[in-house]
Amino acid sequence: MTNNDEPRVGYGAASGDDARPVTIPRLHAAHRASRPLVMVTAYDATFAKMLDDAGVDILLVGDSLGMVVQGRPDTLEVTVEDMIYHARAVSRGAKRAHRVVDMPFLSYQVSESAAVENAGRLMAQGRAHAVKLEGGRAVAPTIERIVAAGIPVMGHVGLTPQHVHAMGGFRVQGKTEADAERIFEDARAVEAAGAYALVLEGIPGPLAERITQALSIPTIGIGAGVGCSGQVLVCYDLLGMFEALKPKFVRRYDAWYERGVAAVRAFCDDVRSRRFPGPEHTFGVPKPSR
Ligand code: KIV
Repeated sequence: MTNNDEPRVGYGAASGDDARPVTIPRLHAAHRASRPLVMVTAYDATFAKMLDDAGVDILLVGDSLGMVVQGRPDTLEVTVEDMIYHARAVSRGAKRAHRVVDMPFLSYQVSESAAVENAGRLMAQGRAHAVKLEGGRAVAPTIERIVAAGIPVMGHVGLTPQHVHAMGGFRVQGKTEADAERIFEDARAVEAAGAYALVLEGIPGPLAERITQALSIPTIGIGAGVGCSGQVLVCYDLLGMFEALKPKFVRRYDAWYERGVAAVRAFCDDVRSRRFPGPEHTFGVPKPSR
C-alpha cells in the first residue's frame, strides 16, 4: 500500500498495490482505514476476469442472475444448482477478488440444517469465499448456525428482492419512522449474529448512514446513498447492458446494449454483402501436393 488516503490505488481498496487474494481481514482493514469497498455482480468467467482486472474488491454471484441472465421477472425461481453453476464459472475467471455467492430463495428459510448444508455446497462446489442471504432478525439464528459451521455470511436488509411479493414490488423500504426502526434493528441483529458485512438495499440515505455509523462491520449500499462503507452495482446495469429495467439509483458507465446492437448489425451487413470473411480471415490456397 502506498498511501492509505488515496481513494483508488492499484488493485482496489482492499488490496492496494498488492495482487494477493482479497480476504475478509483485508476487507475489514480497508473498512477501518475508511477506504470505500467496491462490489460488482459477476455470473461467468469472462466477466469475472474483466472485473477482477479492473480492481473490484468483491465479486457477488447474485441471484439477480435470475433476471439479467435467465430473463425471469424476479429472483424467486433461482436454484442452488444455478448458483453453483455460475459461482464455479466466476471462480475460474477471478484470481484476486473476494467471491460471495447468494443463497437463493428457500435455500435457507426452511430449516437451519438445510441452510448450513446449502451454504456448504455453495462453498465446496461453488468455490465461494462467503455466502449472502436476505433478512434481519428472522434469519439471525440461521446466520449464527452458518457462521458456526465456519462459513462467512454477508447479510442483506432493506429492499430484499426475495420478498418482492410481501413488499408489493421492488419498493424503497424504511420510509416511515417505524419501518426505518425495523430495518435498523434488523441490521444490528445481523451483525450480532456474526455477519462480516451487510448489504443495504433501497433505503433512504440518512437511514443507511445511521446504520453504517452504528455497526462495526462494513455496509455495502445499493440505492442507499453515499453514506455506506462501499457500493455495489449489478454489472449489466453498470455497463448499460440490461434494457428491461433502469432503477433510479443506477449510473450507467457505458451503453453496451446499444453498442452491441450496432456491432452485430455491422456483422449482419458484412455477411449479407459478402464483405466477411475477408481474405485475411480465409485459410490460404491449398499447397500443391508433392
Ligand atoms: O442479487 C444481487 O445482485 C444482489 C445485489 C443487488 C446486492 O443481491
